[in-house]
Amino acid sequence: MTSAQAAASAVPGPLRFAQRLIAWQRAYGRHDLPWQASREPYRVWLSEIMLQQTQVRVVQAYYDRFLQRFPTVGDLAAASIDDVLAQWSGLGYYRRARYLHLCAQQVWTRHAGEFPRTQRELQLLAGIGRSTAAAIAAFCFGERSAILDGNVKRVLGRAFALPARATQAAQQRALWELAETLLPEEHLAAYTQGLMDLGSTVCKPRNPQCAACPFAIDCQARLAQHRAAALSDAGASIKPHARPAGTPVRKAQHWVLLWAEDVQAPEPRVWLERRNTQGIWPGLWSLPQFHSVTEALRRAALLGMVREQIELACATHALTHLDLQLQPLLVRLDRVSAAQEHAGQWYTLGAALDLGLPAPIRRLLQSRSRSQAPVQHADLS
Ligand code: ADE
Repeated sequence: MTSAQAAASAVPGPLRFAQRLIAWQRAYGRHDLPWQASREPYRVWLSEIMLQQTQVRVVQAYYDRFLQRFPTVGDLAAASIDDVLAQWSGLGYYRRARYLHLCAQQVWTRHAGEFPRTQRELQLLAGIGRSTAAAIAAFCFGERSAILDGNVKRVLGRAFALPARATQAAQQRALWELAETLLPEEHLAAYTQGLMDLGSTVCKPRNPQCAACPFAIDCQARLAQHRAAALSDAGASIKPHARPAGTPVRKAQHWVLLWAEDVQAPEPRVWLERRNTQGIWPGLWSLPQFHSVTEALRRAALLGMVREQIELACATHALTHLDLQLQPLLVRLDRVSAAQEHAGQWYTLGAALDLGLPAPIRRLLQSRSRSQAPVQHADLS
């Protein structure tokens, strides 16, 4: 018996893990998410890609709109990347949108427009990793393959308390092995959805709702917590998954965003530049970014005659790994040049809002297009 099999059998109880999870999913899991209405691989795949690193609540606002614009994999494959990025704008992690587009083209050209039906083949497509491939194969084709995203690692890590391995890679291997060992023989869609639902609604990173968990009686993390509480003098509860002491403070970067506006145009026009494909917001259109107001004004002077400059209120935009402190500098220009350098272009506000823009930049431009009055503070939050 391997250690993963031993860990799996350590969870006692009348029903085994998968059966309990499936019963729980049927009674308490989520059943009315938009992507659950269909088992069509294109729709399921799209939802799984959108849901990578993005919460269900956020994806719900995008999913139907995206499908209206690109109803089939063929429509998506034939679209321009700019069009795809524009529809993705606000969902973040834009590399996903590029892979999504590439994957649609691969399905179109390599598989005659039909998604392959196995995890092994799905995993060969752009942007589809092992866990995502397993989820698609389980949801669409009932394939018996294991998922292991961040939520599932937490659920299994808590329920089974695998012994720590010497390396991260060994820990990963043990988790995959456990995930495979636990798979049921049937009802793969309910089982897979159950793991996802349990991880995001009950076994949450902070404040897990143990009273609602089907594994509460034999969860190893919970039992350990109870043992520790019983041993401590005060009996105070130890939060097993709170952020450990000494976690580094988040990093921050301060950006001055040059919001250059051509005041002589009949409709206000804004200068946007396409970001390069590396780093934050890859390939999206954005206001040029600088370290200081002086640098931003130097660039503005290359674009036209500066008539007015207004420093707008700073706002913080949180990315996963750092906080961006964004300070828009509105500069009104006349006699603008058609400077072609820096991969930039003048856009009317209406046209700008059709581009693939990072979410805070979109909000900023929207706040301007709602009110043509001079802006004193920007809405980036
Ligand atoms: N997270 C990843 N895939 C999901 C799904 N199909 N439903 C809900 N949350 C998810």
